[in-house]
Amino acid sequence: MSEKGETILEAKEIFKAFSGVPVLQGVHFDVRKGEVHALMGENGAGKSTLIKIITGVYSKDRGSIFWEGKEVEINSYKDCQRLGIACIYQELSVIPPLTVAQNVYLGREPKKGGLIDYKKMNEMTAELIARYDFPLKPETIVANLGIGQRQLIEILKGLSCNSRLLIMDEPTASLSGKEAESLFSIINTLRKNGVSIIYISHRLEEVYRLADRLTVLRDGKNAAVLDQADIQPLRVIELMIGKTVDESAGSSKQMRVSKNEVRLDVRGLTDETGRFRDISFTAHKGEILGFGGLIGAGRTELVRAIYGIDKFKSGEVYLDGKKLNPSPKRSIKAGFGFVPEDRRQQGFIPLLSIEKNVALTNYDIVKRNGAAISDASELAMCKEAIKKIDIRPADPEKAVGLLSGGNQQKVVLGKWLMRDLKVLIIDEPTAGIDVGAKNEIYELLESLAKQGVTVLLVSSDLQELIRVSHRILVMRKGSIVKEFDKETVTQAMVLAAAQGLEESKEAAS
Ligand SMILES: Nc1ncnc2c1ncn2[C@@H]1O[C@H](COP(=O)(O)OP(=O)(O)OP(=O)(O)O)[C@@H](O)[C@H]1O
Ligand SMILES: [Mg+2]
Repeated sequence: MSEKGETILEAKEIFKAFSGVPVLQGVHFDVRKGEVHALMGENGAGKSTLIKIITGVYSKDRGSIFWEGKEVEINSYKDCQRLGIACIYQELSVIPPLTVAQNVYLGREPKKGGLIDYKKMNEMTAELIARYDFPLKPETIVANLGIGQRQLIEILKGLSCNSRLLIMDEPTASLSGKEAESLFSIINTLRKNGVSIIYISHRLEEVYRLADRLTVLRDGKNAAVLDQADIQPLRVIELMIGKTVDESAGSSKQMRVSKNEVRLDVRGLTDETGRFRDISFTAHKGEILGFGGLIGAGRTELVRAIYGIDKFKSGEVYLDGKKLNPSPKRSIKAGFGFVPEDRRQQGFIPLLSIEKNVALTNYDIVKRNGAAISDASELAMCKEAIKKIDIRPADPEKAVGLLSGGNQQKVVLGKWLMRDLKVLIIDEPTAGIDVGAKNEIYELLESLAKQGVTVLLVSSDLQELIRVSHRILVMRKGSIVKEFDKETVTQAMVLAAAQGLEESKEAAS
């Protein structure tokens, strides 16, 4: 029997280029038994690519992989399964029309008499859900779930295989505090049982808390391997990006009510299925209004309805005093921008280039400059977007589906910045964005607000919510339960309200 602490996986001198552009250049990476090994690096540093090479999704150009000291070729999901490797990819792979249980046991469904034994499958899934205490039900159709819950399904899938090495590429990107906490305790239990974990995250505090060791990649090369004692946030940031950022911002902030005129006025908004009820608030010109809450609190559903993607049952939305009948088309025309939380499904077209993706949202503007759509103005616009938000690589021709996760997010944001916006709705803007780029996005939101744009920000990252918002509304179970508009608010205060530990406004009145 092998000992805890021995190397289970070792990747040596890994090289990978895409169309001649080197992405991994001689990377070395090793994981010990029963350790949580974090992997960090800027957007585009090569983390996901390394994982995909280890799990056989991509082939490597050069290098070798050893499993328990023996060289192995991993070319498929089957090879991974055989060795005991499971991976939760950054791009969620759940299939929306199927149920939670069908997704968890996809490809390895329990059978009875040659047919899928749905009853057994649902029971097995229910057992898993109960074991990890996730807010899921086996029979729910995934299409009806938000991205946070989809991520939990992905995690459940990984956990259900009794793997010896579990790879998690940004597992908490769409999770709120409570779900993330339960994931951390799962990780600790797995580690105690000798399971190894590769943990990719842009959230330093998580890595700080969980990791036994940390490998930092920078531009496709090893920047460092740190032992636990050496994992200090400022040092890690320096290794990643070569400059320091202020991590203290966002622990607390004085809230305020804007004195500007009201731009958006939402009255008694209620949706058909009760995911939000009787929502009323105003947002002012140049104000960043934050929405806090746990997964399933109804924030995403609310902003989708305001923008007009989903219908609502009753209530009204007014923009500059004029009543709107929201639909995406009318909203765009009226001056709304919308950055969805689920960028992969709703935010961009993966096969199209950065240029085309930016242009699609903005054809009305491109056209305005001439009768026909001119390639030159399209390209100029794309270049401006790339520059404004530092999309890497700065190549207008590159298909967005091939960009790293963080850079895809930047494209989705960037395409709205080319417009004259009145209201920007942005749902989890920095999920998957590295620390350096995060600050750039915050500065961008602040400068938009200074120009008079009203920003509705939904964020599960409390530090971000507090740092960016001027005023915060907290939702819980479909209602606004708390408004922070003048006090100095801390993460603990927002969390308490989100969990219902605060007396709600409704209950009090
Ligand atoms: N299939 C592909 N074809 C072409 N280029 C690719 C492909 N996959 C990744 N790349 C490029 O490889 C580089 C590294 O991407 P990767 O996804 O590994 O970054 P990452 O470290 O995971 O970043 P993030 O934190 O943003 O997820 C990026 O420049 C990306 O555009
Ligand atoms: Mg990635």
